[in-house]
Amino acid sequence: MSVHSSANVKRITTHILQEMKERGEKISMLTAYDYSMAKIVDAAGIDIILVGDSASNVMAGHETTLPITLDQMIYHASSVVRAVSRSFVVVDIPFGSYQGNSSEALRSTIRIMKESGAHAVKVEGGSEIKESIARILSAGVPVMGHLGLTPQSIYKFGTYTVRAKDESEAAKLLEDAKLLEELGCFAIVVEKIPADFAKKVAEAVSIPVIGIGAGGGVDGQVLVVHDMLGITQEFKPRFLRQYADLEGIMMKAFGQYIKDVKSKDFPNEKESY
Ligand code: KIV
Repeated sequence: MSVHSSANVKRITTHILQEMKERGEKISMLTAYDYSMAKIVDAAGIDIILVGDSASNVMAGHETTLPITLDQMIYHASSVVRAVSRSFVVVDIPFGSYQGNSSEALRSTIRIMKESGAHAVKVEGGSEIKESIARILSAGVPVMGHLGLTPQSIYKFGTYTVRAKDESEAAKLLEDAKLLEELGCFAIVVEKIPADFAKKVAEAVSIPVIGIGAGGGVDGQVLVVHDMLGITQEFKPRFLRQYADLEGIMMKAFGQYIKDVKSKDFPNEKESY
């Protein structure tokens, strides 16, 4: 088996993601929130782009994901969709736009799908929101679940610590994963749970389980793009592998630009009309 066997696929679909799980090919997923970043992420060959509600933190500077609105998510999602030709684009339904009842969930989903052109939605939670998930799926929209540390519930948890460490929380998470599969979700994100347990969850369901802070035994990995590129400085959890120091590179470039402007080196004759 080639580790790049989905590389020649023209457009990633839920069917291809399922086949990747079945043949043991790991799924790559990153967030993106704007056109320029999404264009690079897509061209690099990332399988899934998540327009995450982490936009609330990294794009808007909020402390949590709770304040971002449906209109703002649609704006980010439509910018990403315009950039993408191969990746499968999943959009977080923001806090307060699906928990009320299943009609609200469907209404929010239809807005996201119609106004952004995305391919699927993601929701946080299990049995508590099963009617909403079923209603969205009945409209023919693929749903990705999200279990473990679900940031929209941060005030219930009170802390960003590892979830499902005790038996009862782990049992509930496993039941929820099976329920999401049974309802028809095409994949599940598990966030910040012990690696051994995450592996057990991935083995217990037939759909792809994609981890963030969940070890290597799951079917794929997701990171927030600003974190892995080293743009965000204040968020460096243990699970984060930083692949670049863009903050350092940007600071150097900005510093040089300031010098060049102040010294009148920029613009020179060639850069003028
Ligand atoms: O919003 C987000 O970026 C997410 C990922 C952390 C999975 O939900």
